[in-house]
Amino acid sequence: MSALKKMLLFSGSIRSNSVNAYLLKAIQTIGKDVFEFVNYSELQNLPYFNPEIGDDHLPWEVEDLRNAIASADVLLICTPEYVFSLPGILKNALEWTVSTMVFDMKPCIPITASSLGEKAHESLLLILRTMGARIEDDWSIHIPGAKTKISSHGEITDSDLLHRIKQMLNSVSNALN
Ligand SMILES: Cc1cc2nc3c(=O)[nH]c(=O)nc-3n(C[C@H](O)[C@H](O)[C@H](O)COP(=O)(O)O)c2cc1C
Repeated sequence: MSALKKMLLFSGSIRSNSVNAYLLKAIQTIGKDVFEFVNYSELQNLPYFNPEIGDDHLPWEVEDLRNAIASADVLLICTPEYVFSLPGILKNALEWTVSTMVFDMKPCIPITASSLGEKAHESLLLILRTMGARIEDDWSIHIPGAKTKISSHGEITDSDLLHRIKQMLNSVSNALN
């Protein structure tokens, strides 16, 4: 049996009752036989991006972030939209990787789970593609009205969404093998 592929999970929300966190929980349940999931939970502990800080003086938190991305087989970024854009803590983390190659050809799953979320999803796709990430069409999932589709028990209650998530996990698994 081949080793499980490592999927690094990011949530753009650090709220305690986050629908994005509930969705990540659901995805971990659905994909547990195929992926080893690792939650990256340090977004709020990263310093603010400063382009004047070179690699020689990199804060250890940033090194950890870059290493975590580099060592993952695939990344999943699940985020809400805040004022028609990405949450600042997620954008900050992405800015810390811009001068590196850690996203180059890295398989990435962009998910925006929000009330609306269209602008944030467009922005997330643009940023990841600009950094060279590999994103297949069926990996990109925009979920408007997320709170009506995902329960606080970490269950996807919307059958179309459940189908899309399963299809996405299958597609990613096939692409990595
Ligand atoms: C400061 C703030 C700004 C928001 N702006 C938007 C927005 O522009 N578009 C949108 O779809 N939802 C917006 N929302 C609603 C959030 O997307 C929604 O509450 C979502 O469930 C938050 O994700 P979470 O449950 O994972 O924390 C905003 C929420 C907050 C707190």
